[in-house]
Amino acid sequence: MDWYKFSRRSFLSRSLVASSFLLAPDILKSLKASSIAEVEFAKRDPLLFAERNGIVNPIHKIILTGIVAPNSHNSQPWKIKILSDKQFELYADGNRQLLPIDPVNRQLYHTQGTFIEFALVASEHLGYDLKIQLFPQGIDKAQSIGTLPVAKFTLSDKKRSNLNSCGFYEAIQNRQMNRGEYSGDYLGEDLGQEILSLVEPKFSSLVFVFGQNRIQEIIPMFQRSFEREISNPIQNNVSREWFRISKEDIYTKRDGITLEGNGLKQPILWIAKTFFMDMSEEGWNSEDSVKQANESFAKSLETSKGFVFLVSRGLDDAKSWVQAGREFGRLTLACAKLGIAFHTMNQAFVDTKESKETHDEFKKSLNLPKDARIQLAGRMGYASASFVSPRRELKEFML
Ligand SMILES: Cc1cc2nc3c(=O)[nH]c(=O)nc-3n(C[C@H](O)[C@H](O)[C@H](O)COP(=O)(O)O)c2cc1C
Repeated sequence: MDWYKFSRRSFLSRSLVASSFLLAPDILKSLKASSIAEVEFAKRDPLLFAERNGIVNPIHKIILTGIVAPNSHNSQPWKIKILSDKQFELYADGNRQLLPIDPVNRQLYHTQGTFIEFALVASEHLGYDLKIQLFPQGIDKAQSIGTLPVAKFTLSDKKRSNLNSCGFYEAIQNRQMNRGEYSGDYLGEDLGQEILSLVEPKFSSLVFVFGQNRIQEIIPMFQRSFEREISNPIQNNVSREWFRISKEDIYTKRDGITLEGNGLKQPILWIAKTFFMDMSEEGWNSEDSVKQANESFAKSLETSKGFVFLVSRGLDDAKSWVQAGREFGRLTLACAKLGIAFHTMNQAFVDTKESKETHDEFKKSLNLPKDARIQLAGRMGYASASFVSPRRELKEFML
C-alpha cells in the first residue's frame, strides 16, 4: 500500500467538491487546533494524557497505551472487555478485518501482538507486573473472529519498587511509520546489534540487510511486490476504503491512512487534496493513479539505508503471529529509541496466491532455511518526524 493517487480525470468537478470541503467554516470551527493537539498528545504520551484527563485506573492507562501501537492500515482492530480493576481481555475486532490483503488474518494477529507489547511497556513504566495469557479459551474460527479473547491480562496488586525499564515507554513519543524519503549514511552491523539487544527476540529472528550493493539487490523485490498489490483492484481497494483525506475525515474517524502519513508536505499536500485525489473506484485503480503510486513508493524505497526482516521458524499459526507482532512492536520501539526512521512494507509477505512467489524470492535472497516464514519487514534510515496518526477514543474499543 502506498497512498498517493493523483488522477487528472474529472479534474474540475473534483476540485470544486474538494475545495468546498476543505474550506467549509463550520468544519474548520469544529476542528479546533486544540482538539487535534489533544489527539496527537494522546498518541505520543498516553500515560501523561491519562493523568491530565483524570484517568486514574491503571488498566485504562495501559489500554490507552496499547492502542497507540502500530497496526495494519491504522484499522485499530482491537476490542476490550474489562473484567475487574485488575483484569481485562483483548479481542480482535472482526468488523475491521482487511481480508483481500490479509485472507488468513496474519496481520490482524500481528496487530494483536503489537497491542500486547505496548500494554506491557505501559505496565512496566507504571511499575506493575502484567501477566498475559494468550488465547485462554482457544482460537477463533476464521468465520467468527472476535468471539474468543486473544489475550487475558492480569495486573499485579502491588507496584514494584525496582523499575527495570529499557526506555521503551519514552520511545513511544517518536515511534511512527515514516514513509518519506530517508537521508544520511547507510546503516551498518553495529546498529543491527544495538537493535537486537533492545528487542531481545525470543520467538523470531531479526535478519538485517546492510550495505549499498545488497540494498540495491533487494529494492526491486519490494517494488515488484508493491506494484503487484496495487495493480490488483480488489487488493488496492482496501487502501481506498481506509483512506482519509479531509481534515474532518481524519480527525472525526480517527483511524485509517492519510496523505500526510505518506510523507506529503505543503504545498503539494494541499494541491493533491484539492485537485488530484480521485476516490472513485475507477479513478483509484486507473492506470494513471497506479503509476503515480508506484513512482512515489519507488522514490522513498530508493532512499532506504538498511532493511530488517522478522523471521519465524516452525509453526506458522495464530499464536506465532501474535508472538511475531509482539516482537515487531519492540522492533519499532527499538528503532524509535535509537533515532532510526522505520517503514514496514509487507506486500511481499501477505497470504495471497501471488505473494507465495515473492515470499520465496526474498527467502532465497536472504538465504533462509526451508521452514522459515518472513512475518514482517521494513526499511530503515534517517528522517525528520512525520505525521502523527490518530487513534480513536477509548470508549470506541470497549465491549
Ligand atoms: C501487521 C502490520 C502490517 C503493516 N503493513 C504496512 C505496510 O505494508 N505498509 C505501510 O506503509 N505500513 C504498514 N503498517 C503500518 C501501519 O499502517 C501503521 O502502523 C498505522 O498506519 C499507524 O500509524 P503509526 O504506526 O504511525 O502509528 C503495518 C503495520 C502492522 C502492524
